Amino acid sequence: MVKSKSHERTPKAKNKHLNHACHKKEAESTKMNLMNSVLTLICMLVAAWFGYKGYLETRVNTPFDSEKLVSINGLDTADRYWGSYRPGLYFGMKTRDPQSLVSGLMWYRPHNLRQGGESFRHWCEQGDKLDKYGWFEHDGKTFGIQQVYDGDLLINISYVKKPGGRHGGDWTARIGVSPRNSKIKDLGEISFIFYSALEDKSTGNIKASLGADNRLSGMEGYTDGLGAYRFSMNPIKGTVEEHSFLITVTPGLNLVKETILQNLRLASQKGSNIKRIVLGGDQLPLDSEGKKTDPNFCATQVTAKIPFEFEVLFESGSVPLRKEKLTGKNFDIALNEQRKRFNDKFERIFKLKEKGFKEDAIEYAKLAFSNLIGSIGYFYGSAQVQSVYTKSPVPYWKAPLYTAVPSRSFFPRGFLWDEGFHGLIISTWDLDIELDIISHWFDLMNSEGWIPREMILGSEALAKVPEEFVTQLSSNANPPTFFLTLEYILNTRESELLDRHYKLLDKLYPRLQAWFEWFNTTQVGDMPGTYRWRGRDSLTNRELNPKTLTSGLDDYPRASHPNIDERHVDLRCWIAFAAGVMARLANVLHHSSEKYSETSHYLKDNNLLNNLHWSSASQSYADYGLHTDKVELKRPTAPIRSPTAPDFIRVVSEDPVLRYVDSSFGYVSLFPFILQIIDPDSPHLDKVLQDLTKSELLWTKFGLRSLAKTSPLYLKYNTEHDPPYWRGPIWININYLTLRALNYYSNTPGPYAVKAKKIYKELRENIIKNMLTQYNKTGFTWENYGDSNGEGKGSHPFNGWSSLVLMIMAELY
Ligand SMILES: *[C@@H]1O[C@H](CO)[C@@H](O)[C@H](O)[C@H]1NC(C)=O
Ligand SMILES: *[C@@H]1O[C@H](CO)[C@@H](O)[C@H](O)[C@H]1NC(C)=O
Ligand SMILES: *[C@@H]1O[C@H](CO)[C@@H](O)[C@H](O)[C@H]1NC(C)=O
Repeated sequence: MVKSKSHERTPKAKNKHLNHACHKKEAESTKMNLMNSVLTLICMLVAAWFGYKGYLETRVNTPFDSEKLVSINGLDTADRYWGSYRPGLYFGMKTRDPQSLVSGLMWYRPHNLRQGGESFRHWCEQGDKLDKYGWFEHDGKTFGIQQVYDGDLLINISYVKKPGGRHGGDWTARIGVSPRNSKIKDLGEISFIFYSALEDKSTGNIKASLGADNRLSGMEGYTDGLGAYRFSMNPIKGTVEEHSFLITVTPGLNLVKETILQNLRLASQKGSNIKRIVLGGDQLPLDSEGKKTDPNFCATQVTAKIPFEFEVLFESGSVPLRKEKLTGKNFDIALNEQRKRFNDKFERIFKLKEKGFKEDAIEYAKLAFSNLIGSIGYFYGSAQVQSVYTKSPVPYWKAPLYTAVPSRSFFPRGFLWDEGFHGLIISTWDLDIELDIISHWFDLMNSEGWIPREMILGSEALAKVPEEFVTQLSSNANPPTFFLTLEYILNTRESELLDRHYKLLDKLYPRLQAWFEWFNTTQVGDMPGTYRWRGRDSLTNRELNPKTLTSGLDDYPRASHPNIDERHVDLRCWIAFAAGVMARLANVLHHSSEKYSETSHYLKDNNLLNNLHWSSASQSYADYGLHTDKVELKRPTAPIRSPTAPDFIRVVSEDPVLRYVDSSFGYVSLFPFILQIIDPDSPHLDKVLQDLTKSELLWTKFGLRSLAKTSPLYLKYNTEHDPPYWRGPIWININYLTLRALNYYSNTPGPYAVKAKKIYKELRENIIKNMLTQYNKTGFTWENYGDSNGEGKGSHPFNGWSSLVLMIMAELY
């Protein structure tokens, strides 16, 4: 692009000046003029180049030029204004404002803390080693119920909202702690801290309301979004032993725990020798004139004997007459009403009782669902991005993101390709929520038609990400799974979509076109009809097989020596699939679908597909590239030159050649099948189905493993520190897509329909059974499952796409 544009300019400009020069009579002056002209020309070219370069540099963080999809936000989203939008916390409520008032809960056992034990709970951390936690009912809008098993304690956290006034209404959270084993009587004390804080640059204020005795009775303040508000604390059951508060300045939302820890101290209680850990009261720093700075953080602590229960009431100043406070019995009534509504809707939509599932399985499915919808967050900030035209990372524009997250503990932020899977579940439950999520993601599209893969917005989100993963490169893709969501919505509720959301869909369409175009141009392969994931490192000697993070299947083995000859079968299938969905969308929106239908037919043509990706040696679909299987991680024999030199490097013992990468049979080989591109009567379909059931390849009693046992890189570390990830373990998103394909081929007339049906039944049962068993054993849904014993592995709870187990149970594809 750089080349073609500057070439275009050069000849035109030159000719003009040369022609002009030739008409001059005197040779000398012609010469002078010519020189001047050339100089002028050079200056112009330099200026043009810098202008153009500047233009290229800014493309990466310039928003896509069309009307934004998110047209209402903040208060206008009424029923979605307040929510448990801080999924990385055990419990934290905030509003959908760029700078919000946030609130959160922490707790600890005083005796542990005094002995230096790690018992402080705030962010969901795997290191907390909780036996179990998660939302077991949550509707994404009005209420949620969570249980946390912390050692010998059971902590219940529930909240319910109540509309009223002009600023998002009220809500109340009830927090209770009881012994897990009711026979154990004396469990000592627990301290709960509830805080509210203003995010950076919020306009508004916060203050402690102190009652008699200088004791905190609540917190109050004002923000633009909320107007005047007030929090109050209400003990419900049990005895409060100590009550203290803190009002101060916290340097950032990523540091509120540190702010608390710095302000805990030991104090004797009035009239007794007992020392307790208390919050430090007024700790407002003084400014240069000796005046107290404005606080942005207010916390209250209650220490009580277990069992104990208390409520936090949030009341909006704009609710004029509050006949009944949302507390005690009223809280129970409001919560139970929402719970009943939730449970009725759950059965109406997913029909698990009707399908004959037992109570414990239904409970699990509800939990899988609630943990996904309850982990929707609202983030605001600017990501860090880089393009080939920028020397270093630059900030993206500031933007909000309303999205679910893959894992509250490990990935509490938005991920592009995960979200397309989440969308299947969320749209089944509530189309408004899902379209809101899609709108936010597509508003993150830049002028190139690119959407960043991982969105790290705000200091809290950033604090959870290792440095090396922060910058998003605009040359890099991620599977366009939102096309899965859109196709699913078209399949299941096309008329609702078109009747109620036509305008939105019509606004979305140009962005989808740009997105498709971005994939179809930036990720093309060297040969017509081929595609290649960008972003593989062709220079590294540390990785056994250079990762393809962009494909979503990180360390799944590809060609050993990345180069431009590579062609990736999964990417080709994603684009074929996307073209089909685009054609369908164009039709329903009355745009011309011709280009997309053509591309879809071209890419789905089985002859061409087979020519490019069918390895006749292995009789399977495969990537193609410069490849050898003869690679190994070894300790370097030469003396270590520098302290940063790796302990292990890759040793290649045979020259790579251009060939099919057909030794890595696994998920990638299945893509023509799982995206339903293989013709129903193709003998290749028969072969894929046969391979699916072979236990030396992918079949296990717990689901399909990601890489065949026979593959040379099966369960191999990629570096000495990177354990196998997509090299054996069972992943639920791909198993879901496989079931979806089996379901399709078993319901499409063809010679292999019966075979597909049989495999469908067995695979479905295996996955459901194992995920339930593992939940029973461990209390969690996991990122992936071991292929030998079915054990949960990786991060947990992982109620992102692993929650698709619900869709598998409900048979919604
Ligand atoms: C927590 O919830 C469980 C199950 O609903 C209940 O048995 C228990 O009594 C509750 N505990 C408290 C302290 O609310
Ligand atoms: C996708 O790219 C190919 C060229 O690589 C082109 O022929 C085709 O028209 C493109 N499809 C669309 C829908 O733009
Ligand atoms: C889970 O455990 C419960 C009780 O401990 C048992 O009734 C149920 O059958 C178990 N379910 C599975 C799938 O293991």
